Amino acid sequence: MNFPSHVNLPADAREELIDSLNTLLADSIDLHWQIKQAHWNIRGKHFYSRHELFDELAKHARKQADEFAERAGTLGGYAEGTIRLAAKNSELPEYDLQAVDGDAHLRALVDRFARYGASIRNGIHRSEELNDPVTADLLTQSLGEVELDLWFLESHLHGDVRATARRGADAGDDAGTRPPNA
Ligand SMILES: [Fe+2]
Repeated sequence: MNFPSHVNLPADAREELIDSLNTLLADSIDLHWQIKQAHWNIRGKHFYSRHELFDELAKHARKQADEFAERAGTLGGYAEGTIRLAAKNSELPEYDLQAVDGDAHLRALVDRFARYGASIRNGIHRSEELNDPVTADLLTQSLGEVELDLWFLESHLHGDVRATARRGADAGDDAGTRPPNA
């Protein structure tokens, strides 16, 4: 379902942009609650600082969800933002429900942030192709936040070969998420 819009873009371009924003909305809602899952269930060394860090990162994903939903609305779209719609539409795998110690949570979150960032980067390219610099700019700002948060997460895993190997394996053919040595 879409709404009338006077934004000066062809209807088919708006429709594709809305679909892409709704997918990113689902990803961001899913990621927000996955980060909260880590925030609530982390145990072990550095508990307090990691518990607090995860809460900060969850706020960023929540803000991005709001921005993606409102851009979809601005383009005349219906924002698909309930928990059930997000669960259905998210591209992210379910959280690692076996994770307990801090590093297991960090590895799970690094993986999810890398996937989320790759999807946003694809969204930037497509927005540029569809001549929508406003969506491209919004997504570029979001990607900057996501990559900064990813740095905060993966810096905790410095020297952990499992984190690097996992990201390399999961990044597939998307050069945007491939670590330099993969
Ligand atoms: Fe909390």
